[in-house]
Amino acid sequence: MASPLPTLYVDEKKGSDTGAKGTQDSPFATPVAAYLSLNATADKEPLSVCQILTVKVTEDGKTEWVELSGAGKKKLVKGIDAQRKKAAKAAADGERLAKEAAETEARHNALRAEAAKIKLEEDPSKPAAIKARAKGLPEYTDKRVRLQGWVHRLRKQKTNFFVVLRDASGPLVQLVLAGDCIKTVDALDLTIESTIEVTGTVQKVKEGQNAPQGIEVVVDWWKIVGRAPAGDDAFEGRIQADADPATRADLRHLELRGETATAVMRFRARLLRAFREALDEIEFTEVTPPCMVQTSVEGGSTLFEFNYYGAPAYLTQSSQLYLETVLPSLGNVYCIQESFRAEKSLTRRHLSEYTHFEAELPFIDFKDLLDHLEHVITTVVDKLLQDPVASEILKQLNPGFVPPQKPFMRLDYRDAIKYLNEHGIKKEDGSDHEVGDDIAEAAERKMTDQINRPIMLINFPKHLKSFYMKQIEGDEDYTESVDVLMPNVGEVVGGSMRISDFDELMAGYKREGIPPEPYYWFTDQRKYGTCEHGGYGLGVERLLAWFLDRYTVRECCLYPRYMGRARP
Ligand code: 4AD
Repeated sequence: MASPLPTLYVDEKKGSDTGAKGTQDSPFATPVAAYLSLNATADKEPLSVCQILTVKVTEDGKTEWVELSGAGKKKLVKGIDAQRKKAAKAAADGERLAKEAAETEARHNALRAEAAKIKLEEDPSKPAAIKARAKGLPEYTDKRVRLQGWVHRLRKQKTNFFVVLRDASGPLVQLVLAGDCIKTVDALDLTIESTIEVTGTVQKVKEGQNAPQGIEVVVDWWKIVGRAPAGDDAFEGRIQADADPATRADLRHLELRGETATAVMRFRARLLRAFREALDEIEFTEVTPPCMVQTSVEGGSTLFEFNYYGAPAYLTQSSQLYLETVLPSLGNVYCIQESFRAEKSLTRRHLSEYTHFEAELPFIDFKDLLDHLEHVITTVVDKLLQDPVASEILKQLNPGFVPPQKPFMRLDYRDAIKYLNEHGIKKEDGSDHEVGDDIAEAAERKMTDQINRPIMLINFPKHLKSFYMKQIEGDEDYTESVDVLMPNVGEVVGGSMRISDFDELMAGYKREGIPPEPYYWFTDQRKYGTCEHGGYGLGVERLLAWFLDRYTVRECCLYPRYMGRARP
């Protein structure tokens, strides 16, 4: 007796074509899937190898299992046919792809075998190559040079490779490779960001052709020093212009190889040098105060605390207090040091670690301080405009830069409040500003952008400022303080005259709820020969953002630190 055909159940609504068993409890969704689950050979009628029952709802709402209708059977045959054709095509495609891959690999191997036969040798009959750098390379026109660097851009053509080499000396340099130079294994392997060494002859490019510095190097020998990956791990695939900010931050070490980041970092170095030169010219002495401290300068809320051999200590917020201690020995002093702020907000102008240029001057009055600040900023700007490298970068990144003119606008805090109200610049809650209010970042920026030139905002209310600021004589609720505001960034400098009187300083500690004991060394300055003095701190990244028209200070330092990020 023939064994009964297997019965498979199908329920279009409740069934599933993946993982179903074909039972009443676990039906398929389609007859085609039910049939294919048997893996039957194609030469038999589908319904000669199984029985398929589908669900039917009767008039009284009950369900029962019935045989496939005539139309259902036809649909099943067509469906199976279509599935079989699809499977056959996939198999054929797979075969074709496998064949193509094998052919490609064979071609690739043949090419490599062919390439391996070609060995580039440095030609001893040629004049010795002079070790050179991209910077200054036009001086070697018609000479043979040796260069080392990274492949910044690469265009492989049939008869030539055009490589733009970055040797990190400044300009890029175009290399032209031809003949045997593009037939070696290294030529096959060459990728963006590989390091290479080349020798070749420096030539002026033909009229009408464009290349950095108007020259190119016609390469006669070269080799890969360090090969960068190709394929999925290739440099150009890892760092893309439209990547989201978190990915870009993770890949900052690679982003720093880009032209814009390189230009900003180069400019930054020149800016720091310009500060040192400007201060050296007026005989200020540079000092390097400690970064690990046990006192705050700008209030406890932004202190980073750490365990210092079992005692609490902080990362410095400002070196100001230490600068004050050397006024009696060194006179005018400055430092360029990292400062740290545990800022709990993510704005475009706040970092957790920033480079702080700070100076302190003895025996001055408030006007002297403001004049000095103007002098330093305009001198630094002049120096950078005269510096060929810096001025070129400035032209490239901020072509509309207008050097600030002396004197800077000096705007009293109370006049600024008036300005904000007259120009409809509201507080965050939508109300008008009142004298005594802190001017929030957004309002300050709006005002600065409208005025569109550097502003020295002066004479802030005492209660808004730090414990050490000197009061204005006869107007004691206000201080001899200054913020320098720049368009597009806002505050770049905070400075003031300092309290010189012992009792006044003690009152300042008290007002701000600061225990004076840990500050004994700072207080001693008022005890052992006090003097009128003042100083300021300038945020280097903010000044750079203004100079180079960068959207955020994060672009203006090597590895920015802000809330949630302290890597790479
Ligand atoms: O106004 P601040 O807090 O002043 C001081 O620290 C004074 N003790 C400095 C002094 O008089 N020696 O900071 C000074 C400058 C600001 O104007 C700003 O440019 C920068 O430091 N700055 C920051 N830059 C980036 N990220 C932050 N979180 C910053 N906080 C301040």
